[in-house]
Amino acid sequence: MEFRVNEETVDSWKEVQLVYNSALKEIGTKLEILNDEFQHVHRYNPIEHIKARLKTPESIVKKLKKNGYESTINNMIEHVNDIAGIRVICSFTSDIYRIADMIANQNDIKVLSVKDYIVSPKASGYKSYHMLVSVPIFLSDRIVDTKVEIQIRTVAMDFWASLEHKINYKFEGNAPIHIKEELVECARMVSELDNKMLSLNEEVLKLSEEQNGVR
Ligand code: GTP
Ligand code: MG
Repeated sequence: MEFRVNEETVDSWKEVQLVYNSALKEIGTKLEILNDEFQHVHRYNPIEHIKARLKTPESIVKKLKKNGYESTINNMIEHVNDIAGIRVICSFTSDIYRIADMIANQNDIKVLSVKDYIVSPKASGYKSYHMLVSVPIFLSDRIVDTKVEIQIRTVAMDFWASLEHKINYKFEGNAPIHIKEELVECARMVSELDNKMLSLNEEVLKLSEEQNGVR
């Protein structure tokens, strides 16, 4: 069914956008504060960078259609969980869980669901830690609990995911089998790289702690 665009729908869509945009700001600020505090206490930034995006109306409507829902504002809010999306990129796999815990421990955030594609990667080879959370948005006359999809991954996982996304886009999801296999192999190499970088970093930290202890 087509989206009935009248003045009322446009108005409520604008309000929906405002609320989701505010949710992105709230979560973005929370993450920045956690990163700053971590830097202050541990002299180390777990977050490399953060990307935030609002899903376009076109892709919201496409997703609703794909899942058999009419394009109404209520269905968007109810059934599309990634209207507001935040991607957190960090250096090491251990940072991912550190950040996830810090977010989950915030009183005003509700964790609605978690998908750990690091422990259980997708068949494509995709790895990341996904959290669906809700955060209260304080408007002038009410509070709206708003869903935000948070994807947390390492720089290496992000490199893999963006290449794989581009390839799938090019082949409209039907990439040749050998390319898919190569991507799975690349994902394995990404995990190996992540593991090596993590243990190298741990060794360096240990050595510098020992040196500082001697002084
Ligand atoms: P969607 O309908 O895509 O939202 O799937 P879902 O609701 O089952 O959520 P899921 O956690 O599986 O994936 C949501 C998001 O994760 C996607 O929109 C992508 O950003 C990312 N993602 C999931 N699988 C892959 C993958 O195989 N490759 C890449 N590049 N990204 C992926
Ligand atoms: Mg999605």
